Amino acid sequence: NNTKGLKDYYQEFFPIGVAVNGRSLAGQEAHLLLQEFNSITPENAMKMEVIHPRKLEYNWALADSIVAFAQKNRLRVRGHTLLWHEQVPDWFFLDDQGAPVTKDTLLKRLKDHITTVVGRYKGKVYAWDVLNEAIDDNPKQFLRQSKWLEIAGEEILAKAFEYAHEVDPDALLFYNDYNSERPEKRERIYRLVKKLVDDGVPIHGIGLQGHWSIFEPSTSDLEQALERYASLGLQLHFTELDVSVYPWEKERRRKRPGEIDALTPALEEKQIAQYEMIFSVFRKYKSHITSVTFWNLSDRYSWLDHYPVQGRKNYPLLFDRNLERKKAYYKVVDFK
Ligand code: XIL
Repeated sequence: NNTKGLKDYYQEFFPIGVAVNGRSLAGQEAHLLLQEFNSITPENAMKMEVIHPRKLEYNWALADSIVAFAQKNRLRVRGHTLLWHEQVPDWFFLDDQGAPVTKDTLLKRLKDHITTVVGRYKGKVYAWDVLNEAIDDNPKQFLRQSKWLEIAGEEILAKAFEYAHEVDPDALLFYNDYNSERPEKRERIYRLVKKLVDDGVPIHGIGLQGHWSIFEPSTSDLEQALERYASLGLQLHFTELDVSVYPWEKERRRKRPGEIDALTPALEEKQIAQYEMIFSVFRKYKSHITSVTFWNLSDRYSWLDHYPVQGRKNYPLLFDRNLERKKAYYKVVDFK
C-alpha cells in the first residue's frame, strides 16, 4: 500500500505544484491533488478578467476558495498573475467616456489592483508571478507591445514589482515566461531580468513556464538556460509544466483531416523519455530550482485540449483520464 505521492518523492528537492480551478477542490480530483502535490497555482482565478472584471467590482469567490483550500490543507500558493497582456478587461485602458486613459491613470489603476489583490492574500500567497510574458514572440523585437506599454511605457514593468513589494515585502516576486529555454528568447529574458535586478527592482525569481512537448526542449537547451538564469542569483521556478504530445506550431489552429487524437504507444514512449530527461535535469539543478508546478492535474482536462488547436485532445500530464498514474509518472519518481 504505497501512499507516497510526487511531493514525497521530491521532498528533498522542491515542492511539487499543480494549477487548479474550481473543479479541483472537491471529489476525486481533490483527493488526487492532496495525495500528490503540496503547492497550487490558481489557473485563472487571480487573473484580471476574473478577479477584477469591472472598475468597481472585484470577484473574490473562486480565488478565496482556492486560498482557503490551501490553508486548510497546508499547501503553498503561487499567485498568478499581476501584469499580463492577456485576460485583462478593456476597462483598465479606457476612461468613463471610452477614451484611452493617461499614463498616470493607468499606473494608478495597476497600483490599486496590485495593492488590493496582493494585500488580500498577504501571508497566504508566498510567491507571485508579477509580470507574465513581457518578451515579444519575434526574436527581432525585445519587449512585447501591449496596451500597458503603449500607454505607460516600459517603466510600468518595474512598477508592478514595486507595488507588489510595497504591500507584501515577504512575498517572492517572479518574472514568468514561456519558451524560456530557447536560446534566443533566453537571452532576451536574461536581458530584461538583469536590467530589473541592476535597477534595484524587487524581483526574486524567474518562472520558466515549461509548456513543452515530446520534441522540446533538448537537454542542452534546458541545462544552458538553467545555468544562465542561475547566474543572476535568483530562484528558479518551473511554473506551468506540461509535455504536449504534439509539436507546438503557432500557425496551426485546426485539427488536420484524419488526425488521430489518441495517446498511441509510440507517442507515449516519447513522452516517457521526455519526462524522464526533464526531471533528471531538475534534480541535477536542485540547488537553484525551488518549485515545480504542473499546468493542470490529469489528462482528463488540460488547457491543451483547446489550445493551440481547438478540439484536439492532448495527453500532457502524469495522470491519465481516470486519474491513474501513467508510465511516465513511475519514471519521474524512480531515481536513487
Ligand atoms: C491558460 C489557462 O490554462 C486557460 O484555462 C485559459 O483559457 C488561458 O490561460 N501561460 C500562462 C497561463 O501564463 O496563465 C495560461 O493559462 C497558459 C499559458
